[in-house]
Amino acid sequence: MMENSSTPPSERLPVVVVGAGAMGGDWLRMLSGSAFAEPVGVVDLNVELASRTTAEIGLHDATVGASLTDVVGRSGARAVINVTVPQAHGVVNEEAMRAGLPVLCEKPLAPTVAEALRQVALADLTGELLMASQSRRYFTHLSAFRDATAQLGALGAVHAEFFHADHEPGFREQMAHPLLVDMSVHHFDMLRYLTADEPVAVRCVSWNPAWSWFAGDAAATATFDLASGARFVYSGSRCTPGLQTSWNADWHIYGEHGAASWDGDHLVRVDAGDADVETSERSEGIQGALEEFVSSLASGLTPQNEVRTNVLTLAMVEGAIRSSERGGDRVVLEELLEDSLAQAIADEQRDDVADLLRSWPSAAEAIATPAWGSSPQAVFPASGGAR
Ligand SMILES: NC(=O)c1ccc[n+]([C@@H]2O[C@H](COP(=O)([O-])OP(=O)(O)OC[C@H]3O[C@@H](n4cnc5c(N)ncnc54)[C@H](O)[C@@H]3O)[C@@H](O)[C@H]2O)c1
Repeated sequence: MMENSSTPPSERLPVVVVGAGAMGGDWLRMLSGSAFAEPVGVVDLNVELASRTTAEIGLHDATVGASLTDVVGRSGARAVINVTVPQAHGVVNEEAMRAGLPVLCEKPLAPTVAEALRQVALADLTGELLMASQSRRYFTHLSAFRDATAQLGALGAVHAEFFHADHEPGFREQMAHPLLVDMSVHHFDMLRYLTADEPVAVRCVSWNPAWSWFAGDAAATATFDLASGARFVYSGSRCTPGLQTSWNADWHIYGEHGAASWDGDHLVRVDAGDADVETSERSEGIQGALEEFVSSLASGLTPQNEVRTNVLTLAMVEGAIRSSERGGDRVVLEELLEDSLAQAIADEQRDDVADLLRSWPSAAEAIATPAWGSSPQAVFPASGGAR
């Protein structure tokens, strides 16, 4: 799989951004100065909001509307960036991929693993790239921390602590699990980036502190068993008014040769013989995600967060929630994956997707090897747009 390349393509990829809320605005501002992609269209159910956001950013030539298919047709877009609320990700991704467009979709890709599996099947059916934007994978110092971690030998444990206090009225404050679903998904995904180890089981408890302004559980602790035998020990809260950590969490890892830590921002330390920390600048956050998406379309190589790879990150979140609902019992992620496949088949309304899901020997096997990019073929820049 590829990491993001900083070499822009010979032409900017024309994209439509769907969802012009808080994060959609951030995407549009970043895209307006990007050498990799050009925002040619903006879609939102709230067309007035889409028009206002587009005008404020100075994208006077962008096509605006409420219908993705219509805006794609009028703007000539060749890819979609989905920045809608999580519940809308599936329907927007489906419309885009059935129209023959690749999609870069904000995290969390889907509210459930079952829905994520349906999206895997849809990506396979259409042959389109569906990539999750796990933007917190793209930080210069995270990359340096990963290199430091690689020098520790076999790992004993990875600890991450996230303590924040954020007030963002809207869907987050109404969710049942605003910490695990909306924030920990980043930290769980970063664990997978950092170690190349994979989670196999989890024990978790979640709760809502008495003063919390969230309706659902804003705090949790979780311990994951990793395939190597190491543990991932996580504590988090979104309603911690003091001594806050970085949004990226505060990390400490120990292994057979020593230990390494990262404050989530700029300070990476390693204490393991002659081990050293080297940083090399790279594009960060959503810009890093965009550049990897466009570079994948140009090279035909699989990006890190192709839809299948992202399913296990979502399984970490859902496994933690399931464990918490069962009083902290150990949840085996492979069992959760197979339950989710059964649920996906039961939920799916489209015969073509349901037939494909039924043909899978197991969910675990179906997500083991990314389909998109297995036989590299550039799709952008290319004439016509079809592969
Ligand atoms: N990567 C990050 O660090 C980061 C940070 C913030 C938000 N996010 C993610 O970005 C996404 C959007 O978050 P937000 O804070 O901008 O939410 P928001 O509620 O501010 O905006 C979402 C917008 O999507 C629109 N929308 C909903 N359903 C739609 C549909 N079917 N078609 C078209 N438009 C639709 C809504 O009208 C709204 O304007 C979420 O998935 C969130 O988790 C990621």
